[in-house]
Formats: sequence, C-alpha cells, structure tokens
Amino acid sequence: MNWTRIYQETLVAERYAYFDTGAAAPPPAPVVAAVKTYLDKTASLGTYLPSFRKEVYQNIELTRKKMAAFLHADAQEIAFTKNGTESICLVARGIDWQEGDEIILPDTEMLSNVSVWHLLAKEKNLTVVPLKANPEGIIEPESLRRLITPKTRLVSFVALSNVTGAVQPVAQLCHIAREAGVLSHVSASQALGMLAINVREWQCDFLSACGRKGLRAIEGSGVLFVRESLIATLSPALVGWWNSTLDPQSGQVLLPDTAKRFEAGCPNVPAVISLDCALDYANAIGITTIEARCRELTQYALTQLAGLSGFEAYGPANAGNRLGIIPFNIRGVCPDKLTAWLEQQHIIIESGHFMASAILRTYQIEKMARISLHYFNQTAEIDRLVSAIAEFTGAQQ
Ligand SMILES: Cc1ncc(COP(=O)(O)O)c(C=O)c1O
Repeated sequence: MNWTRIYQETLVAERYAYFDTGAAAPPPAPVVAAVKTYLDKTASLGTYLPSFRKEVYQNIELTRKKMAAFLHADAQEIAFTKNGTESICLVARGIDWQEGDEIILPDTEMLSNVSVWHLLAKEKNLTVVPLKANPEGIIEPESLRRLITPKTRLVSFVALSNVTGAVQPVAQLCHIAREAGVLSHVSASQALGMLAINVREWQCDFLSACGRKGLRAIEGSGVLFVRESLIATLSPALVGWWNSTLDPQSGQVLLPDTAKRFEAGCPNVPAVISLDCALDYANAIGITTIEARCRELTQYALTQLAGLSGFEAYGPANAGNRLGIIPFNIRGVCPDKLTAWLEQQHIIIESGHFMASAILRTYQIEKMARISLHYFNQTAEIDRLVSAIAEFTGAQQ
C-alpha cells in the first residue's frame, strides 16, 4: 500500500500531526473534491434541476448498495442519517416497547448510547439494566448472559469504544442475545471504516454509525442498519415527503417497506456523496489492510509511550484487544494543559471526560488525554508526539 500517497491526500498532515480521528477524521482530498463538485453543480445548475436531481437520487441508491456491501447487508436494510446519535434514536424511538421491558446497557457507553434509553425508560416504564464491563473495559459475554431475563428486550453496546479503544466481542454478544430472543443494537460510530463489519456474521439486529470518524466521510453523515425482518416492526420517528405517501382513498399514511422509511425530508446529499467516495477510498485500501495498519500503529504508539515517565494508559492491557484509541495520563500533568501545549506544537490530541463517567470512576480519574490514530498517521508523527509529551512533562515535573 502506498501510505505516502495516502498521507499526502490527508491535507491536515501538511500542518498538523492529527491524532483525533475518535472525534472526526480529516476527509481525504478525493472525498472533499467529490463534495465540492456536487456543490458547484448545485450553484451552476440549480439544486433541483429535474435531470440533475434524478441523477442525484439514482446515485443515492447506488451509495446505499455500496454501504450495504461494506457492512455485508442488503441495500434495503440501509438508511442514511445525519449522525450516529440520530441512528441510535431511530432504533430507540421505533421499537414498540411494552411496559416492564428491560434494556441491558453496559457501562462502556458514551452519552449518545445512554441518554435515549434512560429517557425512554422514564416515559414508557422500562428498566435500564446496567452491565459492568471488566476492569479493562471489555464486555464479557457471560456477564451479558447472566443479566438476561424473560423481560429483556434489547442490549445496546459499542463495537469499538471511543474512550478505551476496546474492541468488543460483538459477534459473541449478539449471538447470546439472539439465542435468548433479545434484540441487539451495535453502536459502530468508531468502528465503521476502521474495523471489518459483517452484520451477517455478527447477527446484530440494528447497527448505527456516523461517517466522519473511521470512514473519513464529512460531518453530517450517518448510517443505520436494520435487519430486514424488523423493518416493518420499527415505527419511523421522523416522517414526511421523502419516506411516505398518503393514500387518497383510505387517508392512510403509506411507508416504504425498506429502511428508507427511517429517512425523512430532503436527503443530505453532500453527506451521502462523501460517504460514497469515502467507501471507495476505504475499499481501495481494503478494510483488512486498514485494520492491520491501525493495529500496528496502535501497538507502536503504546510501546513508545510506555517509555515516558509517569505514563499510565487505560483500557485493554493486551494491545490486541484495542484499536486506534489510547487514553492516558502522565502522573502530575493536567491533560488539558498537555493538549493545549501540543496544539501549539501542531500536534492534535484531545482531552476530557469523553462522556464516560463509569469508565472514569473505574480508573478513579476525572479526565484523561486521548490519542486516536488512523491508517494515514505515520510512525514519524508518533515519534514527534512522544518527544513533545516528554518535553512538556519534563518541564512540568
Ligand atoms: C461510540 C460512539 N457512538 C456514538 C457516537 C455519536 O455519534 P455522533 O456524534 O455522530 O452523533 C459517537 C461519537 O463520538 C461514538 O464515539
């Protein structure tokens, strides 16, 4: 693989060593170019020029097929959304909840996979059942099995944690749920584009993701997978001209029997175009090559960072259980100050609580710094990062 070309197509790299894919990856140059071309056309042709619009809508269906192939799903099981949160909420707000239903929610989750379940529980008299991950942030399949009761309706968990970088045993968890007749939702916002996703092997019922992280599409892009047999059972939380018709005779609202029923209103065409191009970009490299490169870089970064005095990483000790994300603290160093200083050195990382109070409690910390890398990063950038951290901590201690 020509990693130098890929690095060059990552324009941010001209100015910054960028380690914040966990928030959003910089889209590669061809993705930006595709979106710009579309926007230029809307300016010169008019967004709704009939022949242009027809072509745009046909292309959306081609992107749907491409996304489906990437996830090993069928095109009819794919809806485009504006982000991971919207996809999760479409699932949560669409299920025909019965009073007393139980939702199993691990303590590994960020707010977008927490708040909606608690709100629903209050509104519909459901119970959110907490699942404690092991000290490294891995959800152990047996812990899930133990919590399932006849009232369990759904389990919702992250595939790749935005906080610890832990890669969860997704297939095992979904299989346990399936055997027990429990619905499974996989939050794959970090995983999409970084980790091979196969919804058939995983056997999940729902999968949500944004496009702007591992996949490197633009902000405002997201996807929802709904298993075909469940589409008709999920009520669309958002509805309008794009996803419904009104039967003049009966006055009934008619909905598509595909996942398009979860898309409402004017599609976010620039975002879908960015997804299309980002899928081509990822496919050209190959998802297994991407995953392997990310594993290598993660391992390299961990090894280099471990040499820093006072360095403490959180999450899986075995680097094989972690991908792309390294949360850490340096004893005696404020992570916010470190992050701000690194920015002055043109190195981007993030610090904060990452909306993960349970994980912070486990490690008894309030904040951490987080390095999140991707295949476009280079070992030389990691070396520069490690030297810069050493320089800052040396001055602080
Ligand atoms: C694991 C996980 N799930 C869900 C989300 C929410 O995605 P979005 O910001 O696109 O709504 C994020 C975003 O940080 C995430 O990391």
